[in-house]
Amino acid sequence: MSHDAIILGGGAAGLFCAAQAGQRGKRVLVLEKADTVGKKILISGGGRCNFTNIGAKPENFLSANPHFAKSALRRYTARDFLDLVEAHGIAWHEKTLGQLFCDQSAIQIVQMLLDECDKAHASGGHVEILTGQDVSEVVHEGGRYAVMANGTAHTTDSLVIATGGPSIPKMGATDFAYGLARQFGLKVVEPRPALVPLTLGGEDVLFRELSGVATDVVAKAGKTSFAEAALLTHRGLSGPAILQVSSYWTHGDPIHLDFCPGQREGWLLEHKRATPETQLVAILRAYMPERLAKILAERLGLSGVLHSISDKALRRAEQQLARWEFRPNGTEGFAKAEVTAGGISTADLSSQTMEAKAMPGLFAIGEAVDVTGWLGGYNFQWAWSSGWAAGQAI
Ligand code: FDA
Repeated sequence: MSHDAIILGGGAAGLFCAAQAGQRGKRVLVLEKADTVGKKILISGGGRCNFTNIGAKPENFLSANPHFAKSALRRYTARDFLDLVEAHGIAWHEKTLGQLFCDQSAIQIVQMLLDECDKAHASGGHVEILTGQDVSEVVHEGGRYAVMANGTAHTTDSLVIATGGPSIPKMGATDFAYGLARQFGLKVVEPRPALVPLTLGGEDVLFRELSGVATDVVAKAGKTSFAEAALLTHRGLSGPAILQVSSYWTHGDPIHLDFCPGQREGWLLEHKRATPETQLVAILRAYMPERLAKILAERLGLSGVLHSISDKALRRAEQQLARWEFRPNGTEGFAKAEVTAGGISTADLSSQTMEAKAMPGLFAIGEAVDVTGWLGGYNFQWAWSSGWAAGQAI
């Protein structure tokens, strides 16, 4: 069968791209390996899908080329996607930090994407979606692409790689995109788990006994910091602040947590002057759960009431609390990573269309590409924006 476009992968980016191209009158075939489309959408945001971030800006994305995402994000914005959600009558709310969720269910987003695909008919286009497809071979001959799936050959002018990244392999995620990109001469930036819990060893394992304790921190990796909650786990550190910095963390480097965010220099000394008979732990309890306050005071080697602690020791404690160093010995890997950083090199793609510069008709979109968003709806926005950009060009 011949098509204008074949999209490999019926996830967020693939379905959105199919709808866009279909509505421009194209005959599109989506080949999905799993038995249903949009599986990651369904489990996202705790089943409510954090479908975008209303404040999404290029600065919220990591890539070897930080400028690459600008064009697509500018041409198809979070507001554009929100307009679509509203046009489909899907009720939504902002949870925090610009994160938009469905009031009811992530199923609504998948249904909306399928309804958008169906709209192709109105403009003479067509979107066909085949699930349970095993793509065994892709070849490029005479300017067209031939895809062999489940023993059937499909041909097309435009081939879109939208098979995502290898995070959460138990959901069927694979590194298929990278093999295919390399087959056609595209480079791949080393993929690594991102938005992932960090594991602790050595002295830091002492914190494991606090598994389940959460506290507000400013977490910092290199020059990048996030003010959100951190969660101590039996393997190390998790929670939004940690997931965010994990994307910026490199093996061997430390991360730093400010356990008492927003305090100005000398704040412990001020407490000492104002309430000299108060225990340090009691002061720390205002910022964090008691169990954590106790462990931190213990590790600072400071017990007793404030007036029994020297000013010098309190100043040192302030500094340490503001920059508590952890040396993660790894991450929980692709098994627990919400996304994959790295991927198909943006150097080989047009930022306007997502088409491979040296391979006409070959496109890559979504998580398969070396563009990774922060936690909080940014990754879906990249799926929509990049899918939209390719959908206008195929
Ligand atoms: P996606 O993974 O969605 O789709 C790829 C599709 O390709 C899949 O359907 C897969 O089965 C298919 N496929 C793979 N190999 C294939 C092959 N060989 N042939 C054919 N098909 C193949 N982001 C966000 O912004 N807000 C959120 O709330 C969340 N929540 C969240 C929770 C969890 C648990 C995870 C794991 C991830 C998130 N994310 C998120 C991230 C978000 O899910 C992710 O960035 C997007 O789904 C990426 O969209 P893609 O379409 O690129 O890949």
